[in-house]
Amino acid sequence: MSEKNSPKTGSSTATTLRVVRYIVWAAIAVLVVAVGAISFMAWQGGGSSLQASTIGGPFSVVDQKGERVTEADLEGHPSMIFFGFTFCPDVCPTTLYETTQWMKQLGPDADKLKVYFVTVDPERDTPEQMAAYLGAFDPRIVGLTGTRAEIDQMLKAYRVYSRKVPLDDGDYTMDHTASIYLLDRDARLTGTVDYKETQETALAKIRRLIAG
Ligand code: NI
Repeated sequence: MSEKNSPKTGSSTATTLRVVRYIVWAAIAVLVVAVGAISFMAWQGGGSSLQASTIGGPFSVVDQKGERVTEADLEGHPSMIFFGFTFCPDVCPTTLYETTQWMKQLGPDADKLKVYFVTVDPERDTPEQMAAYLGAFDPRIVGLTGTRAEIDQMLKAYRVYSRKVPLDDGDYTMDHTASIYLLDRDARLTGTVDYKETQETALAKIRRLIAG
C-alpha cells in the first residue's frame, strides 16, 4: 500500500515544488519591476531627495510692500519659490538674474506664474531692503520676509536648510538651500530647478509647470 502510494506522493511533491518555484520567480519579477519603477520615479524627480507630500504647510509672512502673504496665496497658479538673502554674494543674485532672463524668455506666459524670493535672513532683509534689492530684477518677483519666528515657520514647512555663518569681520553670511521649488496650482511640489542648471533645462521645466 505504501509503495503504491509513494509515486503519487512523489509527483504531488514535485508539483508543489514547481508551484513554489513559480511563486518565487513571480515575486522576484515583481520586486525587479517595483525597484525599477521606484528608481525611474526618483530619476524623474531630478534626483531630488525632497518628498512632494511633506513640502509646504501654513505660513504667514509679508511681501516687500508689507502685504500679508499666506499659504492660501499659493493656490490657483503655479509658483516658483526660492530661498536666500539679499546680502548673498553669489547664488541669490545669480538665481534672481537667471529667473529674470527666464521670465523674459517665457513672454506673456510668465504672467501665469508667481515667483517668490523668501529671505532666510529676516533680521537684515526688512520689506524696505527687499524692495530696494529686488528693484534690480523682474518687477513681478515677490520678496517675502517677516519676523524671525514667521520665517522659521515657513523654512520648516518647506524643509529649507539655512545656517548663519560668522565672518572674521564680525559680520555674517548665510548658508542656504539653493534649489528653486516648482509648485503646481495646488501648491504641491512637482520638482526643482537646481543651481547652475542650463537655461534650456530650466525653461523646459518651467514651461511644463505652467502648462500643468
Ligand atoms: Ni544666496
